[in-house]
Formats: sequence, structure tokens, C-alpha cells
Amino acid sequence: MVTDSPLIIALDYPSLDAALCMADQLDPARCRVKVGKELFTRSGPAVLEALHGRGFEVFLDLKFHDIPNTVASAVQAAAEQGVWMVNVHASGGQRMMEAAIQRLEQHRLATHLIAVTVLTSMGAGDLADVGVNAPLAEHVERLALLTQQSGLHGVVCSAQESAHLKARCGDAFLKVTPGIRPSFAATNDQQRIMTPSEAMRAGSTHLVIGRPVTQAEDPMMALESIEAELKRV
Ligand code: C5P
Repeated sequence: MVTDSPLIIALDYPSLDAALCMADQLDPARCRVKVGKELFTRSGPAVLEALHGRGFEVFLDLKFHDIPNTVASAVQAAAEQGVWMVNVHASGGQRMMEAAIQRLEQHRLATHLIAVTVLTSMGAGDLADVGVNAPLAEHVERLALLTQQSGLHGVVCSAQESAHLKARCGDAFLKVTPGIRPSFAATNDQQRIMTPSEAMRAGSTHLVIGRPVTQAEDPMMALESIEAELKRV
């Protein structure tokens, strides 16, 4: 079952059972799901198997960052388990990203490979601490262009960056955007938020949404409200 929905629901749970309990309330024809570091570290490949068995396409959000051969092998391992999307840190550099994408191509694996530019938890001061003195927006753009030159399919970025990255990298370059809050939802701990329709208008191609759906009394109804909001774009 393949969906053309831009919605990716973050399954941020500490156990396989809790993640599947949520997945069972969602429809794989209407969203994809994201598995992150905690869930994968606790449950391992079993969670991918279980989600694939239920018909979901999975974004494995492990943000690999290591020497080129190690990252290429990890990306290959993820792709061989059938994930729809996997990611790396662009700051691992061009050779690392090229090794990863070439490995997918060599093995004819169709998994989307995207990169994180600068973590949104980092401010200008944090960048300076690690020796990056360029303004944050400039560094994001530099890493997005490096990602594209390396042959990857897109980046994880905030909706605030989507319009600019669309202008620099084009429509086909994926812009996967967290920090989304539908008009009905609480802000939680997210700072710079946009609604789903604002983010799509800004040029995001996919929206990562967690708590507004997973903590809703009726997750599928929350998903429907988001779909309705998107139809009005
Ligand atoms: O619950 P919420 O919608 O805030 O969840 C967003 C998801 O996107 C979480 O899995 C979070 O780790 C992830 N994320 C984020 N901001 C980033 C990158 C990833 O919120 N910059």
C-alpha cells in the first residue's frame, strides 16, 4: 500500500507495544510513520517489521554521522529492511553522503536518503562553540547545497527555511519539516511553529507531526482535521 500523503506521524514511544498501539489507530493509506532513536534502540528491527506488516511506509530517523564506509553500511542495512526514508547528518561531509547514496544505487535500493542540516535545538552560540562562525541561516544553506551536490534527495528543515531552500534547491528536493502545529493543537515545547497549510505553502514537501496526532483523544480524527486543513491550501 503506497500513500501520497505528505504526513509523517512521529511514533515517539519507549516500547514496541506502545508504538504499535498508536499505529493501529492510524491508516497507512493516509500517512507514513517515523521511528526515532529511542524506539529503535529499544525495539530494534522488530518495529520496522511490525509496521511494514501493517502496510506503513517508515521514515527511520537515526541521523547517522560517522566515517563514510560505516554510514554507507548503516544506510544499506536500513534500506535492506525496506524503510521508505532514512537520514544522515550533512555535517558528516560530502564524502560521507556520497558513499551513502552510492551504496544505495549500487544495490538498487529505492530508499529516500535525506540529511539534517543544523539541528533546530542549536543556536548561533552553540554553532560558535563547535567552531562555526557563519550565521546560522547561511550554514543551513551551505549544508543543504552540499547535501544536494552529494546526490541526496532532500533535507530535514524547519518550515521557516523551506521557502528559501525551495528557491535554492528546487521543488523536487525534499523538504521534510517538523515543528508543525495544526490550528487546533497545543504548542508543547516547539518554539518556531507553523500550521500544516502554512508549511506546505512555504515549500515543505513532507510534514512530521507527533503529539498533535499521537496525544489526541482520537488520533485518526486529528489526522482528518489536518487533511481538511491541507485541502484548503
Ligand atoms: O510531537 P512533535 O510534533 O513536536 O514531534 C516532532 C517530531 O519531530 C519529534 O520526533 C521530534 O524529535 C522531531 N524533530 C523536531 N524538530 C527537529 C527535528 C526533529 O521536532 N528539528
